[in-house]
Amino acid sequence: MVGVGIDAIEIHTGKLCLDLGETFAPEMGDDPDKYRKGLGLYTSSFPDSYEDIVTMGANAAHRLMKRTGRTPADIGRIDVATESAFDNSKPVSTYIAGCLEQVFETTFHHANKGERKFACIAGTQSLDDAYNWIRAGRHRGRSALVIATDTALYARGDAGEATQGAGAVAMLISEDPSLVELSPEQGYGSADETDFLKPNQQFPSVDGKRSVQVYLSRMREALQDYESVAGDTHPDDFAFIPFHTPFPGMVRKAGLLGYRHVIRDTGVEEELAAEIGRQPRPEAFDDDQTYLDAVSEYTDALKETTRYQEWYEQVIEPTLNISRYVGNWYTGSVHVARASALKHALEQDRELTGDRLLVASYGSGAQAEIHTETVQDGWKEEIAAFDIDEHLDARHDITFEEYERIHDIHNHDIKSEDVEEFTTPSDEFVFDGWGRMGERKYKFVSCKIKVI
Ligand code: CAA
Repeated sequence: MVGVGIDAIEIHTGKLCLDLGETFAPEMGDDPDKYRKGLGLYTSSFPDSYEDIVTMGANAAHRLMKRTGRTPADIGRIDVATESAFDNSKPVSTYIAGCLEQVFETTFHHANKGERKFACIAGTQSLDDAYNWIRAGRHRGRSALVIATDTALYARGDAGEATQGAGAVAMLISEDPSLVELSPEQGYGSADETDFLKPNQQFPSVDGKRSVQVYLSRMREALQDYESVAGDTHPDDFAFIPFHTPFPGMVRKAGLLGYRHVIRDTGVEEELAAEIGRQPRPEAFDDDQTYLDAVSEYTDALKETTRYQEWYEQVIEPTLNISRYVGNWYTGSVHVARASALKHALEQDRELTGDRLLVASYGSGAQAEIHTETVQDGWKEEIAAFDIDEHLDARHDITFEEYERIHDIHNHDIKSEDVEEFTTPSDEFVFDGWGRMGERKYKFVSCKIKVI
């Protein structure tokens, strides 16, 4: 059976940068360490006035196709995952295809296009759709273009404001991929939850604290479901574990609970027993509360062990390197985490071919999914082509007043007169106003000119 997976990947970050500790925290009356140490975020990306989910997605996809020498004829489907859509009928993928057709000589008229919605997990669901389409043999030798694009903005004053971000990830899904091959085995944890939703509104209604608990519960279910089909997992099975990362502090919690789960009944639990005892088992307790208290005490002790900390430093921490500087990208977030880990491995000159990743996706509402990926022998060339650092360094730092302005510019309920851009577009797609039916229009700007 020929493998199917991610052949190439490109990331486009929103072009503005808000420093959370320096600029945002003082205005909120917060200690900067709440952001840097608590949430684990230093800066976040914001879209300039001429950027939105279409431009960011189209720019990532354009770079990906140019770099890999693909033309529209090589692409049989375009799936866009987003929770920031601005149209309930016309999918974002049609806008992105329209953009790309401005710069390629041929069209995407032959390509199946769609839009996936299930909060942040929709990016991974689009990967699945592409995987299944290829596995079913319906692709005629072509690849799928999967684009996860979001402007993750919260209402001003919402606790989630600290975790905002904006960016897009474009991925090429192919047979015999260069980067990672996806496992057919998957595990799900899915339940009807009202932790985070956008009932016909731009900014989410969020029950922040509950959303954290829902994330952890669904993730546990997904891991158990994955193990029921793929067998038990062990902490040493995986080079990296990229999680959906709304903010790195969330992954810190998920990583610890995941580790506790996977070491149960293994030699690792036995080795740690001398230091912190064995994990509590429910049958040893008279009531649930006493058991849960004992589990909580064990987990706190586990977190302090050198063994756990070394594992976390090696397997989880590298997945957060980019996220700390860009914030939450919703559908793109877990794919940023994977890219971040592979980039770290390349920088460390690590050999990864044949190693496995456990990829843990999540979407509010709520669903978690777990699958594994095997790193392919083209991974170094692919990741070496990655220029995310350049794009991050090129972002324009905004003051708090500029942040307020840009938030208003992207607020659909505010008719903002002041839409002057902070950066100058160059070789990229930009928003170009509205058409007669309320559709958005886009153009390609090929060199540095002011958008008017
Ligand atoms: N020094 C160090 N740490 C500090 C600190 C300081 N001075 N001040 C606070 N902290 C720590 C806190 O202890 C806390 O850490 P722990 O959770 O480990 O205890 C952390 O910083 C955050 O502080 P608060 O809990 O006080 O922060 P908050 O209540 O203002 O906001 C939040 C936290 C509720 C998660 C909020 O960011 C939020 O609503 N976010 C949006 C929802 C979200 O991202 N949920 C995640 C799961 S849902 C999901 O993943 C889907 C998605 O993408 C949205």
